[in-house]
Amino acid sequence: LKPAGPPKKNKDFLKRMRDTDKNVILFYGSQTGTAEDYASRLAKEGQQRFGLKTMTVDVEDCDMTLLDKFENDYIAFFIMATYGNTPSEGEPTDDAVDFWELITTESPEFSEGIPVEEKPLSSLRYVVFALGNRTYEHFNAVGRTVDKKLTEFGASRIGERGEGDDDGSLEEDFLGWKEDMWKAVCEAMQIDQSEVKTGDRISAYKITELETFDSNNVYYGEYNEHSLMINSIRPTYDAKNPYPAPITNTHDLFKSTIRNCVHLELDIEGSGINYEAGDHVAIWPMNAEQDVVRLLKILGLWEKRDTVVSVESTDSTVSKKYPFPIPTTYATIFRNYLDIHIPTSRQFIANLANFAPTEEGRSKLTALGQDKEAYRVQVSDAHLTLAEVLESISPDGNPLNSIPLDLIIETLPRLQARYYSISSSPKSTPTSIHVTATVLTFNPSTAPQKTVYGLATNYLLQVSRVLRNIPHPESLPSYLYSGPRNKYCDEATSKIMLPIHVRHNNFKLPKDLKTPVIMVGPGTGIAPFRGFVIERAHYKAQGEEVGDTVLFFGCRRRDEDFLYESELNELFATLDKSGKLITAFSREQSQKVYVQHKLREHDEYVWDLLYNRGGYFYVCGDAKNMARDVNSGLIQIAQLCGAMDEITATNYVKDLRSKGRYLEDVWS
Ligand code: 2AM
Repeated sequence: LKPAGPPKKNKDFLKRMRDTDKNVILFYGSQTGTAEDYASRLAKEGQQRFGLKTMTVDVEDCDMTLLDKFENDYIAFFIMATYGNTPSEGEPTDDAVDFWELITTESPEFSEGIPVEEKPLSSLRYVVFALGNRTYEHFNAVGRTVDKKLTEFGASRIGERGEGDDDGSLEEDFLGWKEDMWKAVCEAMQIDQSEVKTGDRISAYKITELETFDSNNVYYGEYNEHSLMINSIRPTYDAKNPYPAPITNTHDLFKSTIRNCVHLELDIEGSGINYEAGDHVAIWPMNAEQDVVRLLKILGLWEKRDTVVSVESTDSTVSKKYPFPIPTTYATIFRNYLDIHIPTSRQFIANLANFAPTEEGRSKLTALGQDKEAYRVQVSDAHLTLAEVLESISPDGNPLNSIPLDLIIETLPRLQARYYSISSSPKSTPTSIHVTATVLTFNPSTAPQKTVYGLATNYLLQVSRVLRNIPHPESLPSYLYSGPRNKYCDEATSKIMLPIHVRHNNFKLPKDLKTPVIMVGPGTGIAPFRGFVIERAHYKAQGEEVGDTVLFFGCRRRDEDFLYESELNELFATLDKSGKLITAFSREQSQKVYVQHKLREHDEYVWDLLYNRGGYFYVCGDAKNMARDVNSGLIQIAQLCGAMDEITATNYVKDLRSKGRYLEDVWS
């Protein structure tokens, strides 16, 4: 048996650069894979267009104290995402935590013993691209700080810092930035751009169809070797090694059937996983089967869907030799490993033009690739997937055999885990993690006749329906598939398991039970608060003294989408006088009534709990509008009830945040 966890990598990136004859290194800090993907794209482009000798690497796998030994004819790229869940902070991604600590300390290890004036990083030339979301207060805090700190320590930046806004048009920001950046890099590396060869495409991956293979070792969606082993020693479960969790209970939470919200209970007994109320659980979804079938068909791979293949990088020096676990099958690649559901990127469309089967298709894609506005209307806003793009250039609907599969593997992002706020408390259910997910479907504004099904939440809905023996209409994505089942599905019982892992955070109840808590969570924002309320009621039932527990919950109508209504009523009955459930039903009257309106209605009470009694304030749900409105609502309460002027009130609320008494778990 192999030891648990990934093997220790050699962290001396300078040695690796020298050994493999590289002159450009692209470090990335990535949570959901986008920064990683951008780093790979830049590496490839630098190599093909300008003959740079590039390598990409996760900052986590590097000893960054070596930055002071950087060669002055090398260049380092920093492609850094800011993790968005705690807007008051602007946190580094999990893989960049160590680098963040190193670079933000007063005198990091690479400058030890050297006065900062002597500039320890003077030999480092770098490029930086920051990824973030403007919805959050500390937009691109990580990329910006890395840039600032590197400069402070004497490194010199090449070109302008790029900044991408995930709430707007990350991809366009990226495309817009990189042309000038390349000019600056070519200048710095003394590359004559006019002599640069565009040349033939170099395949990034070699795909081999295998005739002989060990059928016990074929991956059908598993993420690592542990999941293929039977009776293996129990490994540690983390982001790289998810735990297959059985689902013990599931149901629909909405009373109306127009929309769905799924409740799932995941069994973690015996897994060694533990959690606290407020933590997140990552769940790895699958693509909808009908999308998989469609793409396999248009690519001419349908007949070969179960052929076992190996996919390997053609560049032997890359840190990731395999893009996903191999050997696997064509069907599995599209079902489990690649995100085939995203709108096709503009650059991808431009690249695909070269492989269009007809002149007409070629000029159509070329035009779309060049015209930003047409691209936005017809592809991005219309949520046009790869299969749809390819179908649109197939003259007779027949498969297109001309599209190189390695281009697709190289371009489509890996299918990533989705994070959900856990809606249970270990005080009541220590071996069960509950998930509350509203199922996303929408009609794109530029293609209103089309319905788009959110990938992960619809997957959860299908899983839930399969387990409840509810037949699902064919028009919906279907979980059931014909190919071999993977280790996340128990053959004997047909029980589906979800690959999960827990991500801890600081969205936590106060240590002291007597501290009052105010929670604001409309819609699925209720999730962590269900856990909090369960926990407070649990202690209350044991006779403990529990401080005021106030929940502001909002939904459309009481008889439509009031999540956990009867359960909440029971819990608040247990909490008795110390509990208050305050509801805002937005669509029961002509005027919208939202949680922030209710907050204002109860301003004296809210103020007393916060100002006089040291209460904690929590917000969960939509970052863009709701969380902002609640923040300004609280500032107004401080002005009104605390007799503060606007600046003092704003600072008071900021201060609550910095003291960890105003906590947010919000998403956009
Ligand atoms: P609406 O859809 O009727 O506008 C959960 O989604 C609840 O949050 C719904 O009642 C929804 O109302 C409400 N909501 C929508 N926008 C909001 C905002 N900016 N602030 C607070 N609640 C909002």
